[in-house]
Amino acid sequence: MAQRGEDFRTIWLKPGDPAIVQIIDQRLLPHEYRVHDLCTWQDGLVAITDMYVRGAPLIGATAAWSLYLAALSGADSAAAVHEAAEALLKSRPTAVNLRWAVDRILRLVGQAAPGAALADLILADAQAICDEDIEISRGIGMHGVSLLDAISKKKSGGSVNILTHCNAGSLATINWGTATAPIYFAQQQGIDVHVWVDETRPRNQGSQLTAWELAANNVPHTLIVDNAGGHLMQHGEVDIVITGTDRTTRCGDVANKIGTYLKALAAYDNGVPFYVALPSTTIDWNSCDGLAEIPIEQRDVAEVSDVYGLSDGRPAFVRTTAASTPISNYAFDVTPARLVTGLITERGICEASETGLLGLFPEMAAS
Ligand code: MRU
Repeated sequence: MAQRGEDFRTIWLKPGDPAIVQIIDQRLLPHEYRVHDLCTWQDGLVAITDMYVRGAPLIGATAAWSLYLAALSGADSAAAVHEAAEALLKSRPTAVNLRWAVDRILRLVGQAAPGAALADLILADAQAICDEDIEISRGIGMHGVSLLDAISKKKSGGSVNILTHCNAGSLATINWGTATAPIYFAQQQGIDVHVWVDETRPRNQGSQLTAWELAANNVPHTLIVDNAGGHLMQHGEVDIVITGTDRTTRCGDVANKIGTYLKALAAYDNGVPFYVALPSTTIDWNSCDGLAEIPIEQRDVAEVSDVYGLSDGRPAFVRTTAASTPISNYAFDVTPARLVTGLITERGICEASETGLLGLFPEMAAS
């Protein structure tokens, strides 16, 4: 990817071969840009589980495309789609977009006429999910940029310092990103911005993905270790925090990459506004109490013991700890709504509360 651009997508059908879905193997970035073929739904499952693709919206889209591959290889059998759906649903438990996308495709399959060409139907819907995601991210950018514009005006055009955690950028969605969409809009509108990029251990989505993506799009940024955010806030170096989210409850509690909660605490203590950018597909309308109800994924301890990078100029994993060290690897945490200044959605910005969300999505009141 030279520049994100309007045509950029993180998942697409291989030109000239409708039996293959293509993705960017994000595990290898920034040291190698490699396009990876998904030929079966099981390839899609591996891509989600092993984080070739990641980020809540892209995980959902990849699940939809995987169900297309399941229908294709299963000769349009609904049973084949259901079998794949069951396995996909278990792959990444925290990001709710996965369930949202799988349920949407299963509804489509359930409503299809007997003997319908399921693969064709699912293909069209997987494409629609991607098109809609781009428009949703664009909406987040359109609304979110007003926050950056207001800060810029208050600073008489001085650079707006935004801190972000993990990668909630183009790579986590289909294009634009969630947390990055307001930043790209600001850039287009000539607002001076600078992004503090949290490294985001253990998988380093900040240093490996966000920094790479911002560089490719000429957005001024600085990489920091995860523990630096509080210090920068104490010294007035952060004007606003904007993160993404993997699941937000109807009451405004936010699950996001591990470490987000600590940033919210530091922001609260220092009076720094803490915003979360999210597509409505990330809202879990069935839960309210995030701490009690959101499943927190625990991943392989090798993600903590080993770090991916360049060794002698070649991509390699390097162990950082003794082999005998006990390790746990919680992938997400929950930031309670009371620490969130506001939610930036495709329909506007609201308070992190049930009232706030229902004000923007009144059709969900009965859900
Ligand atoms: O484990 P990941 O990389 O799939 O984590 C998800 C994320 O990218 C972040 O938590 C992000 O902030 C929310 S998804 C736009």
